[in-house]
Amino acid sequence: MSESTIWAVVPAAGIGERMLANKPKQYLSLCGKTILERTIQSLLSVKRVERVIVVVAANDTYWATLACSQQEKITRVLGGASRALSVTAGVSYVADNAPNGSYALVHDAARPLTSIDDINRLIDAVFSSGNPDNGGLLAVPVQDTLKLANTNHTVERTVNREKLWQAQTPQLFRAALLLDALQQGDAATVENRVTVITDEASAMELAGVQPLLVESLQANFKITRAQDLALAKAWLNSTESAE
Ligand code: CTP
Ligand code: MG
Repeated sequence: MSESTIWAVVPAAGIGERMLANKPKQYLSLCGKTILERTIQSLLSVKRVERVIVVVAANDTYWATLACSQQEKITRVLGGASRALSVTAGVSYVADNAPNGSYALVHDAARPLTSIDDINRLIDAVFSSGNPDNGGLLAVPVQDTLKLANTNHTVERTVNREKLWQAQTPQLFRAALLLDALQQGDAATVENRVTVITDEASAMELAGVQPLLVESLQANFKITRAQDLALAKAWLNSTESAE
């Protein structure tokens, strides 16, 4: 199995508009710690993750107040106006500063519940796949029945969900390959040839790569709205009291 260096990249430069809170959602408290601290802590609990690059907004006033901002294994870089630009800034730091051939493990700040087992299974699956340059991502098969909508919100038809998965993070790719793909994807978006790069895998797909889907087996939802934060609190309380 390949034993390349892995640095995590945590995009945390969003404003969390849909959360309707008084600060960016990554700085809201989730059972005694901020969402961002929990996410970073999970990544640092994965033995093969050597460093965490946290991408924050240029006008961020919260990051420096967290104790982990002083931690030796953590580097802060400045993000951009979209998730893709923030990720590009973080991956670019990895490509420039980590040893040649290193991997970037990109993981949303807003997913604090990801299990260490799932992250390790993703890394093992990519490194033992025979095609580690293709990278991979955590994802889950779609469970609900899917409808294709007409413009007036009526059902056009039911879509076969057999081969459909919902992408999550972390997503693991060689930093140099991902940086190239993100930059090409950005250029293509500007030229209006494609819609949007909504995750790292979609940038790699545009570059002709077929990333590995690794099923995530434990709670790994993204905290987007207030109800997600309430659910995360309930989930943590139930798992912590079960221990
Ligand atoms: N993100 C980022 N830079 C941006 C936008 C988003 O680093 N310009 C990060 C967010 O901080 C988050 C992750 O990308 O950790 C996933 O994005 P999302 O859940 O959409 O977060 P926000 O963009 O902050 O939320 P919203 O879309 O509701 O404003
Ligand atoms: Mg967003």
